[in-house]
Amino acid sequence: MSTPAVDYNLDVARIRKEFPILNQEINGKPLVYLDNAATTQKPQIVIDALVEYYQKYNANIHRGIHTLAEKATAAYEASREAARGFINAESVEQVIFTKGTTESVNLVASSYGDKFINEGDEVLVSGMEHHSNIVPWQMMCERKKATLKVIPVDENGVLDLEDFSKMLCEKTKLVSIVFASNTLGTINPVKEIIAKAHDVGAVVMVDGAQAAPHLHLDVKDLDVDFLGFSAHKMYGPSGVGVLYGKRELLEEMPPYMGGGEMIKDVSFSKTTFNDLPFKFEAGTPNIADVVAFKQAIEFINIIGKDKIQQHELELLNYGQDKIGKIEGVRLIGTAAQKVSVISFVVEGVHHFDLGMMLDAKGVAVRTGHHCTQPLMDQYKIEGTVRASFAVYNTIQEIDTLADGLERIVKMMK
Ligand code: ALA
Repeated sequence: MSTPAVDYNLDVARIRKEFPILNQEINGKPLVYLDNAATTQKPQIVIDALVEYYQKYNANIHRGIHTLAEKATAAYEASREAARGFINAESVEQVIFTKGTTESVNLVASSYGDKFINEGDEVLVSGMEHHSNIVPWQMMCERKKATLKVIPVDENGVLDLEDFSKMLCEKTKLVSIVFASNTLGTINPVKEIIAKAHDVGAVVMVDGAQAAPHLHLDVKDLDVDFLGFSAHKMYGPSGVGVLYGKRELLEEMPPYMGGGEMIKDVSFSKTTFNDLPFKFEAGTPNIADVVAFKQAIEFINIIGKDKIQQHELELLNYGQDKIGKIEGVRLIGTAAQKVSVISFVVEGVHHFDLGMMLDAKGVAVRTGHHCTQPLMDQYKIEGTVRASFAVYNTIQEIDTLADGLERIVKMMK
């Protein structure tokens, strides 16, 4: 497993060379991959780490004393340390590997929710949440006879913080909020939201799925209680995510799943549970993908989040300006603070048709409701076309998108 000692210095051509998948034609046209909010592509070092694990040291972890088992365990735990550093957590014991953000939210909703949320309590989410940050809370609130309340979003896709402040009261026990919206790109002021929620004694979970590839995540600075994010949206493998939690909360929470590894001692009369983080990692985990996740973190660290942000902001501003000027296009999500996501609708043309016609030109975008149906209802639309950028995208690719779109729109008139 080697990490190239390269200072990419935002040399996009060089960065692109690390992503073999980008170098291909789709429908006879060079691939323009603009569906990064759904999943990013993987650099060769991540792919190599997966292959190397299976070729050289595949073994179960935390169980064997043989050499391969020890090597696999060390690599797995090295990823945990890399993830700890990535979010500036105090300790690796607070970094739990999950399948992804969805499982991280479900874990907290089930484990924390079932123990600490009671009848009459209130849980707040926002109107721009992904279904994965709505449904687990809905299910839990139904079980516990608690109430789920929704922080409103305005026409630009910005949270109404005044309304949020008014909603907070002694009944508010938990706030779960997205850091950056997958559909709108809006970056929410999570630090302020966390502080306000703490003032009424509520705990806060942050869905960091769309923030992790773009923004600094510092759990100490945010003072966040729980944070979830996914490896596959940040150049890592799919099927791996992280749940960070404050130690005192994680320690009080019951296990989410029972099984091997999460126990200290099992008998038919009594089972005692393992220490953190293993209490929440029942069964054989996704070892290879966790191991390779470390390389994705290092890839981001080598380039540096500041440089990534700077490049992506340039793409965002250029793209919003260019696409926003095309006749008939309405941008959905025009907050001042955004990650590199551009959602739009075109008057009189269905988003699926646009997506298919762009695909014919080699341009991959996402179409649909993006798992944010309540937000679509608010905008009175069924779905959008969404272009989302990563560090390897270029201004020329945005030109290809915009030119293609312009032609399609003219043709459809
Ligand atoms: N949540 C992912 C997206 O927005 C899948 O596309």
